Amino acid sequence: MAENIKVLVPEEEVAKRIEELGRQISEDYAGKQVHMICVLKGGVFFMCELAKRISVPVSLDFMSVSSYGDGTSSSGVVKIAKDLDEALEGKDVLVVEDIIDSGRTLYYLLDILEKRRPNSMRLCTLLDKPDRRVRDVKVDYVGFNIPDEFVVGYGLDYAQRYRNLPFIGVVEGVE
Ligand code: IMP
Ligand code: MG
Repeated sequence: MAENIKVLVPEEEVAKRIEELGRQISEDYAGKQVHMICVLKGGVFFMCELAKRISVPVSLDFMSVSSYGDGTSSSGVVKIAKDLDEALEGKDVLVVEDIIDSGRTLYYLLDILEKRRPNSMRLCTLLDKPDRRVRDVKVDYVGFNIPDEFVVGYGLDYAQRYRNLPFIGVVEGVE
């Protein structure tokens, strides 16, 4: 089935915004090392581009949590499918997400990570849908606030498809 994809944020705008975020993060972490944690799979495109725009030392780790099936609405059930390789103690952690929707995933994840005693922990998301929030999550860096629409591209999927689109698009006709 071919869904129709409408461009919401063009490729050049995403690139420009990531550059700005990288500059901001580099300033905020001056003299430190940023330990970036990518929440797979959606966060991976954003994290790679963002890491390239950060001028302070960077280390990377990955984890996978899921609160979603193949559909488009949160189940509320969150599980760790893949944990981090490294301990967080003493590190300046930057959690990198593709999108914050209900906030359930991050609310749960940040609570777990906080218990591992990082020196500091901040959250950076490419996209935020503030109107959809169910759980209160403090976001430190946001690429774009977007309306309550189901988006794909730049790592975001619809039933595992469209992650590789170089722009942010809206899938038309999805409830
Ligand atoms: P939350 O727990 O409701 O905040 O859901 C966060 C996760 O749901 C994100 O990391 C995405 O994987 C997925 N998600 C939420 N909204 C969208 C969307 O519009 N498109 C694709 N995935 C989404
Ligand atoms: Mg995600």
